[in-house]
Amino acid sequence: MDNKEELFLKYEFAKRMLETEINILMEDFVFHHKYNPVEHIKSRIKTIDSIKKKLQKKGYIDTCDNILRHVHDAVGLRIVVSFLSDVYDIVSIIKKSRNLKILEQKDYISDPKESGYTSYHLIVLVPIYLENKTEYIEAEIQIRTMAMDFWASLDHKIQYKFPETIPDDVKEKMYENAIVIKELDKRMMHLNDIVNKYDK
Ligand code: GTP
Ligand code: MG
Repeated sequence: MDNKEELFLKYEFAKRMLETEINILMEDFVFHHKYNPVEHIKSRIKTIDSIKKKLQKKGYIDTCDNILRHVHDAVGLRIVVSFLSDVYDIVSIIKKSRNLKILEQKDYISDPKESGYTSYHLIVLVPIYLENKTEYIEAEIQIRTMAMDFWASLDHKIQYKFPETIPDDVKEKMYENAIVIKELDKRMMHLNDIVNKYDK
């Protein structure tokens, strides 16, 4: 049975469930802390074309089974926050959710990728309540600061522009910029801590 239409409908349900769960968790946080760490939240479902591309790269044909087994970010949600400490606060809130089951966590902030990419990734299972059963759909949550998001968006543009190989000088500059971004995130967080103390 290979029904992509049904699979994408389930992805749509999972995306909506995940958005709702995250929005409620964030609103509850704001209520209790009188502080909103979230800059913006964005979610998306990967297009069938980019799912096909990903499977092809991994050496699989595009069956529903292979999509479910090998594509972990068909449903994706990104939370962009102000400060470095906000990332970890939000990760711990999500981990406490009774509705989401954490399958995997990758802290690319303490352990950046070779490119210099930083973010905190969670792979979660999202429940969807169908007519006769509950199913669980995988989704990827990325949590990052505005500075990390700024870096990642230029990196994305670069990857698009050079699909084969990125020129060495561009790669090096991006790596250097990742270091600058990391330093900036630390400085902004420290300054914010100082400013907060003035309030008291
Ligand atoms: P893939 O999604 O196949 O890469 O699986 P993976 O197990 O390698 O997951 P990984 O955690 O490395 O990356 C998942 C997602 O993180 C990607 O789809 C991108 O959105 C983002 N990402 C990872 N590395 C980079 C990077 O170097 N630059 C940018 N801009 N984004 C990245
Ligand atoms: Mg990857």
